[in-house]
Amino acid sequence: MKYCLAIVVAWMLLQPAYAQAPQLGKNTIKEVIAAMTLEEKAKLLVGNGFSLPGMKPPGGPVVGETQDKVPGAAGTTFAIPRLGIPSIVVADGPAGVRIDSVRKTEPGKTFYATAWPVGTLLASTWDTALVRKVGVAFGNEVREYGIDILLAPALNIHRNPLGGRNFEYYSEDPVISGNIAAAMVNGVESNGVGTSIKHYAANNQETNRNTVNTIVSERALREIYLKGFEIAVKKSQPWTVMSSYNYINGAYASESYDLLSTILRKEWGFKGFVMTDWFGGKDAAAQIKAGNNLLMPGTAQQSQAIIDAVKTGALDVKVLDENVAGILQVIVQTPTFKGYKFSNNPDLKKDAGISRMAAAEGMVLLKNNDKALPLKNVHNVAVFGNTSYDIIAGGTGSGDVNKAYIVSFVKGLTNSGYNPDADLANTYTEYLRTERIKHPKKGFFQEFMNPTPPIVEMLVANDVIAQKAAQDDIAIITIGRNAGEGRDRKLENDFNLSDTEQLMIKNVTAAFHAQNKKVIVVLNIGGVIETASWSAEPDAILLAWQPGMEGGNAITDVLSGKVNPSGKLATTFPVAYNNVPSANNFPGKEFPEKATTGMMGMKAIPAEVTYGEGVYVGYRYYNTFHVQPAYEFGYGLSYTSFNYGKLALSSNTFNGKITATVIVTNTGTVAGKEVVQLYISAPAKKLDKPAEELKGFAKTNLLQPGKSQTISFTINVEDLVSFDTQSTSWIAEAGNYTVKICASSKNIKTTAAFSLAKELVTEKDNKVLAPAAAISELKP
Ligand code: BGC
Repeated sequence: MKYCLAIVVAWMLLQPAYAQAPQLGKNTIKEVIAAMTLEEKAKLLVGNGFSLPGMKPPGGPVVGETQDKVPGAAGTTFAIPRLGIPSIVVADGPAGVRIDSVRKTEPGKTFYATAWPVGTLLASTWDTALVRKVGVAFGNEVREYGIDILLAPALNIHRNPLGGRNFEYYSEDPVISGNIAAAMVNGVESNGVGTSIKHYAANNQETNRNTVNTIVSERALREIYLKGFEIAVKKSQPWTVMSSYNYINGAYASESYDLLSTILRKEWGFKGFVMTDWFGGKDAAAQIKAGNNLLMPGTAQQSQAIIDAVKTGALDVKVLDENVAGILQVIVQTPTFKGYKFSNNPDLKKDAGISRMAAAEGMVLLKNNDKALPLKNVHNVAVFGNTSYDIIAGGTGSGDVNKAYIVSFVKGLTNSGYNPDADLANTYTEYLRTERIKHPKKGFFQEFMNPTPPIVEMLVANDVIAQKAAQDDIAIITIGRNAGEGRDRKLENDFNLSDTEQLMIKNVTAAFHAQNKKVIVVLNIGGVIETASWSAEPDAILLAWQPGMEGGNAITDVLSGKVNPSGKLATTFPVAYNNVPSANNFPGKEFPEKATTGMMGMKAIPAEVTYGEGVYVGYRYYNTFHVQPAYEFGYGLSYTSFNYGKLALSSNTFNGKITATVIVTNTGTVAGKEVVQLYISAPAKKLDKPAEELKGFAKTNLLQPGKSQTISFTINVEDLVSFDTQSTSWIAEAGNYTVKICASSKNIKTTAAFSLAKELVTEKDNKVLAPAAAISELKP
């Protein structure tokens, strides 16, 4: 066999085509491209296809070895061996390396990956160093499983709490989103693998995600929906960007030159390549012209369409070459190109520890009356709620991951020496078992098309609750929610609690309070829910988010006081859904009479959504319009307390930059960390401005009681500007600016002012992506 191979290779080398063909890595990219045929170019620009068990690949047969190298990965690129161009592998996603956990070819071996806490939890740490650390561990798994590019992080804005993929995303604020994403990219890519920041851009809903036309003003687009991507590109220069499914002001994101070339490359200086979201957009030639280098997962028709467009003159071959060059520049950096021998054996034990640590750091203590937490003198715990026994580690869809195990909440309690009530545990376990039988496990695609409904909360009888209140030391109730790709969440029984959940909280609280015992609610959710109607009842509420595979341990770490909570909300919890600024404009209008057949044979209903709230998203709205939220952006309690000294500014007039300094002291009795937030209130004469905007954040070290730390921020001119649509430039108005150092968007600790003598214009941008007609936007 070896001899045969050697003979074939020797024969190939003697052939003129092989002997003379330039080789990627040895010759310049220009020379390699010059040697490529039109067909080769058209194939390199299109992925190798996609196949799911039980499903025919759309658009004809798979043209390459999609699933061979890493089964379960989302896609591969086309290999051109004669030019030394290998096929590289891309895999999802934000929650962990998403690949098949078992392989027919290697029976007995498993390929599990770490399930990290969801994006929203990571953002709630407000800790870029920690997120980078997660990224370093995550990227190592990417590399050791033979993957070249991770399809993450995802950083679309939480425009509306019902967004089905909000759990994958970071925040309602672009400064948090962009900085957390940059930290993740830098961490992952430190392993010599790539990332794909997604979904660029304004992909803020799942309803009609492939057809919706997002109608948004230039200012809101630039300040809110693009800003996070801009920060991430400038601070981390990711290898790739994934364009989104939706249209923006009439143009498909993946077909928009303005979005992918003018803004991303020319204005921001992005150097990597752009790939489509899976089957995104319609017109292959238009995508290539727009600068969308790689069409994923790729169909034979797309390659053909590109060839045809070149032949008819509709697509210049020079444009093809630029796109090919973008891909090749990344390929030469990949582990595959470098011949890296991956182990298929990352250190999952070590990573589980990092996942647990990160999870605890991003949990947010929402309420803690009379120091109900950390748990004291507690041994026997009455644990209520389905998800106490069946924790939701992360959301569904491509943001899911095949993990080896999940530590449930009750298991976490047991691991730490608590004693969950066995009788309740048996009842719940039996209930969940019988309910699960009613819904046999489905394949990924079947589940995607027709998701299994969540198991309805079990109502425990009042006499049982009373018995538990007499026997056990405390009650802990978990409320759980799941969501994912393909659909948005619902208002009833999802954003709002179900009647059974409300009753469970009421009945358990009444019975335990009657015994002078405390009740804790743990929220195991990926997105925001309503809390105002029931939050008065329990003594404490811990927002645990969807904390990854070590969730039960991490929750117990916080409840027990082993970890002092230091997470803060990166997204607002409104009092009611009607208070949400986009409530009347989400998920928009549908035009069913114009329905066609779209991606993977699914019905495609044209739709549009108008971002009528403009820049007033999240706390920018609640603060400016004086709408009281349930828990505001930036909010979170600790087991200790902090004192903020007086804010000192390096100058009270702005001359290019100002340093803001504040001393934070732990004034409580236990060690803790504080998230310090810097907001600016700017003059609003020419342009309306949100009352406050976050411009900086920092987390202290773990401060021992009595210890202080000096925190410094640099305020640059970019922190003062807003986008002026008329002049398409970023301007800082002359006048007085107030710097507010805060413990949340409403909890101002210390302020100082400076003035700007003359209006400054920092950057003149291109007039692109304007809506067809002016939008009537919300104004203060
Ligand atoms: C998702 C992307 C994902 C891709 C590949 C798409 O449906 O929107 O986030 O990376 O599939 O799995």
